[in-house]
Amino acid sequence: MKHHKIKGLKGELTVPGDKSISHRAVMFGSLALGTTEITNFLQGADCLSTIDCFRRLGIDIENEADTIIIHGRGLDGLAAPSSILDAGNSGTTTRLISGILAAQPFESILTGDESIQKRPMKRIMEPLSMMGADILSLRGNDCAPLRITGKKLHGIHYYSKIASAQVKSAILLAGLYADSVTKVTEPTISRNHSEIMLRTFGANVRTEGTTAVIEPRPALKGAKIQIPGDISSAAYFIAAGLIVPGSDILIKNVGINPTRDGIIKVAKAMGGNITLLNESHAGEPTADLHVTYSELHGITIEGDIIPTLIDEIPIIAIMAATAKGTTVIKDAFELKVKESNRIDATVQNLSSMGCKVTGTDDGMIIRGGGNLTGSVIDPHADHRIAMSFAVASLIAQGENEILNSDCVSISYPSFYSDLQRLYI
Ligand code: S3P
Repeated sequence: MKHHKIKGLKGELTVPGDKSISHRAVMFGSLALGTTEITNFLQGADCLSTIDCFRRLGIDIENEADTIIIHGRGLDGLAAPSSILDAGNSGTTTRLISGILAAQPFESILTGDESIQKRPMKRIMEPLSMMGADILSLRGNDCAPLRITGKKLHGIHYYSKIASAQVKSAILLAGLYADSVTKVTEPTISRNHSEIMLRTFGANVRTEGTTAVIEPRPALKGAKIQIPGDISSAAYFIAAGLIVPGSDILIKNVGINPTRDGIIKVAKAMGGNITLLNESHAGEPTADLHVTYSELHGITIEGDIIPTLIDEIPIIAIMAATAKGTTVIKDAFELKVKESNRIDATVQNLSSMGCKVTGTDDGMIIRGGGNLTGSVIDPHADHRIAMSFAVASLIAQGENEILNSDCVSISYPSFYSDLQRLYI
């Protein structure tokens, strides 16, 4: 990261479309009858993996610039896959598609990259099996590759121990095919993009507290889906704007769904100047975010807010490293089973920059305010670690060298150039 003599970050930017919502638009559009048009689709490697899987399941998908046209074939329109389904690095693809494949009249083999082959799949195998699914972990380790043999499924009421939208969505998608109503209760509500978008396509989904309820066999119809900017991508610019002296930036059209907006609440609680402009609340809510340099202070982050900022914890740790005082992050065990072990990856790289940080079983303790020095960063092939430490580099003495820095293409291919465009 070459950034000598930056005097701040200034200007406007639009971050790419939301990753979670992009995946869902392709999946649900494939299961709907007729044409689905998706605008501002995220052309990141993860979402392209989802497109590739549905093409292999016989769906005709056109991909022109940031508009996607899906020629959906209805709930019973998927064909036996022409080959192994490869989800790449994408947990969302792997877990959500499993709920769909579990109900198909054919067998599929589903795998992904090295990271995916280490991530826990028992969390979906267990509830889907309770519905009647036949899912085998081919290496017997509860990870991909999975062999999924389609079966007739039954509705269940599942009580999940974790607040996971991937688990909830896998069950709701299987519930589309079940013989009775399906319910998922979570300890706290996870992101609800599936519920919102399934309703747009015509499904009968309702939310009762932390329980999502879906009626089976809806007639899903093709829809127009406009994808908001990804708040998880905006998070790097929120942090950069707050911590680099002299900064003043406007991030346009960001999704601010309350199940995702924990980063905004944390930024404000740390003393950050962040203002929401042009708010819109139709479907997925959006706003423009105005961020200016702020003197941050440490806080404790724990409990129900954690699922609303789970992917932002590495960049929150960078903010905490520059803040006055101590930041404590708790209740974030799930960080250990993301694209990398994000507790270890964050602590190791922040320590190497000279920050006083300790990893705990469910989070970390960061003593902020010290000087950070440039270092060699190992992102563990994890896009969010690479982007977090590119931002950290902006306030370090010296600069970070980020190994395999192109892993950002998983969720944000133009990240480095978008960041550099704001340098003054
Ligand atoms: C996602 C849910 C979250 C999140 C991931 C995307 C989704 O994972 O970390 O990046 O699109 O449903 P979990 O369901 O494992 O919490």
